[in-house]
Amino acid sequence: MKRHPPRGSISTRAPRRRFLQGLAAGGAVSVVLALAGCGNSGAAGDDPRADPRDASRVAAGAGLYAQHCASCHGVRREGQPDWRQRLPNGRLPAPPHDESGHSWHHPDAVLFAITKYGFVPPYAPPGYASDMPAFGGRLSDAEIWAVLAWIKSHWTSGEVLAARREMTRNAR
Ligand code: HEC
Repeated sequence: MKRHPPRGSISTRAPRRRFLQGLAAGGAVSVVLALAGCGNSGAAGDDPRADPRDASRVAAGAGLYAQHCASCHGVRREGQPDWRQRLPNGRLPAPPHDESGHSWHHPDAVLFAITKYGFVPPYAPPGYASDMPAFGGRLSDAEIWAVLAWIKSHWTSGEVLAARREMTRNAR
């Protein structure tokens, strides 16, 4: 599992990275939850609506992922090649949703909100340009949670699960 970008690409990724790390550190969690519309569930890293043990939800998510996400994030969630390097247009490629990426570093509420609203504040600085579409108009909330449940059903390594448990504990 690669947790850090290779030497040389750190400066290019730093702004949004630092921004999201700041979010993860807690400052903006309540803002995120308010925007994501899930204030009742607390600031947990894992949300029951994206429960990877829910077989029917996971099955629904598999089809939705293939239809709406695989073209960019890869059929096996492997992301686009050289995903840490900016494209000629200055934007970032689609990162993996497997354990080699960093999606698993984000609480479910953040994953949900990025999928629904795209990279807009508070998930990115104002004016941030990104190729990640906002799916709010195309997928229902339930469909977005199902896709996330499917993605999460592949996060099985001890290290990733321990990190997510820790995140959930810290968020309480
Ligand atoms: C047209 C290409 C495209 C499609 C289709 C797409 N994405 Fe993305 N996605 C991206 C790009 C590019 C990024 C990285 C954007 C950035 O960092 O500026 C991204 C980033 C993300 C992130 C943040 C990951 C992280 O580690 O920070 C999530 C979550 C995400 N996408 C979920 C989804 C889901 C779920 C779907 C399907 C419903 C989807 N995406 C479909 C291009 C796409």
